[in-house]
Amino acid sequence: GSCLESVKIAIDTGYRHIDGAFVYYNEHEVGQAIRDKIAEGRIKREDIFYCGKLWNTCHPPELVRPTLEKTLKILQLDYVDLYIIELPMAFKPGDAIYPKDENGKIIYHETDLCATWEAMEACKDAGLAKSIGVSNFNRRQLEMILNKPGLKYKPVSNQVECHPYFTQPKLLEFCRQHDIVIVGYSPLGTSRDETWVNVSSPPLLKDPVLNAIGKKYNKTAAQVALRFSIQRGVVVIPKSFNPQRIRENFQIFDFSLTEKEMKEIEALNKNVRYVELLM
Ligand code: A2P
Repeated sequence: GSCLESVKIAIDTGYRHIDGAFVYYNEHEVGQAIRDKIAEGRIKREDIFYCGKLWNTCHPPELVRPTLEKTLKILQLDYVDLYIIELPMAFKPGDAIYPKDENGKIIYHETDLCATWEAMEACKDAGLAKSIGVSNFNRRQLEMILNKPGLKYKPVSNQVECHPYFTQPKLLEFCRQHDIVIVGYSPLGTSRDETWVNVSSPPLLKDPVLNAIGKKYNKTAAQVALRFSIQRGVVVIPKSFNPQRIRENFQIFDFSLTEKEMKEIEALNKNVRYVELLM
């Protein structure tokens, strides 16, 4: 229920881009929140930008459309605004989200990313996704798609970890050259949940530079981190279940960082990921 409430508060606050996925197991709540707000007359469907994701067990081309249709059924929406390949590696198809062998090792599945991409293109042609993109792709994987013979649609975006401690300068430049928007996940440095986060990298929001710059503008380190990303053209998808912090993370359009401050923050880059995705 916390997701339903949070999305409603977010929409009331002004957020329109909602980043979801089947594997977050809360698409039913997100869909409900969107539909409730439409019913209230607060928004129209076209005001919302919902991003859904194709999970690793669904890469075989024949599974792509049925998987998106399942997401739409859960959301109770007719289309998603963006559908992305969540990760560039495939797992064995089936009910297990993390299929494992008797030794506890992930069972991978050999698929062709280009064939998966063609199935994504068909979803766009069918009107089930307005746009299609990727996530966690490196340059080589992007090039595979961009250079695919007969490519119909380029990925419009690549969702990757991106924040002041992991600024992705080379990937950002490559994506700029190819008109691919970088969507930065973990823009606040994650929840530092040790089950999936590399906590050897220090907490982003405790950073002295972010805090000092925040003080100057009467903003928090979180607001400075988000402003930094949007000012360099990176879309941010901060997560919060806390109403006050949901509102705080939206108050970033009434100040701007100077060129010197942007450089100072860029220099914080440690080239260390919080989200290592070791699988
Ligand atoms: P909560 O949901 O309790 O607000 P990221 O978006 O980088 O993954 O970060 C999400 C984490 O940061 C969550 O643990 C979230 O906790 C917390 N968080 C979200 N907004 C703020 C904020 N403005 N200040 C401090 N922590 C925040």
